[in-house]
Amino acid sequence: MLEEVVKRSTCFPSNSKVLIFGGGFSGQHIAKAARELGAQVMCSRRTIQSEGADFVFDSTDSVVPSSCIFENVTHLISCIPPSKNGLDPVLNTFGEELKKIPLQWAGYLSTTGVYGDYKGEWVTENNSTNPKQARSIRRLSCEKAWEAMNIPLQILRLPGIYGPGRSSLEAVKRKNSKMVFKSDQVFSRIHIDDIAGSIMHLINLFSNNVRPKIINLSDNLPATNVEVMSYAANLLKIPLPPLESFENASKDMSPMAISFWEENRRISNHVLTNDLKYDLIHPTYKSGLEDCLKLSK
Ligand SMILES: NC(=O)c1ccc[n+]([C@@H]2O[C@H](COP(=O)([O-])OP(=O)(O)OC[C@H]3O[C@@H](n4cnc5c(N)ncnc54)[C@H](OP(=O)(O)O)[C@@H]3O)[C@@H](O)[C@H]2O)c1
Repeated sequence: MLEEVVKRSTCFPSNSKVLIFGGGFSGQHIAKAARELGAQVMCSRRTIQSEGADFVFDSTDSVVPSSCIFENVTHLISCIPPSKNGLDPVLNTFGEELKKIPLQWAGYLSTTGVYGDYKGEWVTENNSTNPKQARSIRRLSCEKAWEAMNIPLQILRLPGIYGPGRSSLEAVKRKNSKMVFKSDQVFSRIHIDDIAGSIMHLINLFSNNVRPKIINLSDNLPATNVEVMSYAANLLKIPLPPLESFENASKDMSPMAISFWEENRRISNHVLTNDLKYDLIHPTYKSGLEDCLKLSK
């Protein structure tokens, strides 16, 4: 819950202005938390009609806001994925402008896909990146472009994002929903409260000179699809969807959906929770889904 993020976080210094590129699912939640904590926040969306659109930016249509959005910006977060050509939409459009802003902190939301397949082993920030999927190769090249900016940056690597309105609760309720299983396959995940909460925590540490460059944001319990969907169905008090092997299910899956099942890794949050002492609001999918259910009522 947003209240919990706000309760646990430190307020922004006065005159803080946070610019968020890509105010989608995570971006909106981060924006709400930052506003509650005293910052002025500006969020981009691709259409002005979308919830929380303070300005419009769409790199594919060359819809670019006036450069006055950068005035007095102290913190910047990009939640926009790489474009199809592998360039970063924000840097490709505003790279030169960003170098001129006296930023106190910038965060780039990346993915744990950059690690590639670890055959179910635990993966820390010290493990090498070895992306195999085209989208993860593009992502790694965007990470490198952000690093090369020479701004006060942290790269946040995220596994599956879930939260109210976008979780396994919706998946199990879907018509013809199936619980796909594949031997030993687990997924890591992070609730949007902990994305917003850990970003607030990292910004505060950064201002106190604690500045790791790359941080995995994930919960404590990588789990199988069947475990998570069963828990969701039980919470909703509905029958478990039928089980289906990945081998069978993959016949009807999109190449994108299949690609998620081709890599297996357990994302370690040791740096975040142990070294940086972030206290997860939802340490596992169980409390995370309970929160999603509470907020859907
Ligand atoms: N979803 C996951 O499970 C997951 C897992 C790991 C990492 N990630 C990455 O983490 C970030 C945040 O994820 P999310 O799920 O919160 O994303 P999301 O809800 O899809 O939001 C993405 C944002 O980027 C904007 N955007 C997309 N393409 C754009 C373009 N060409 N030009 C300008 N804006 C563009 C979208 O605009 P609109 O608001 O107009 O749609 C939206 O605000 C993304 O980079 C995502 O790829 C996601």
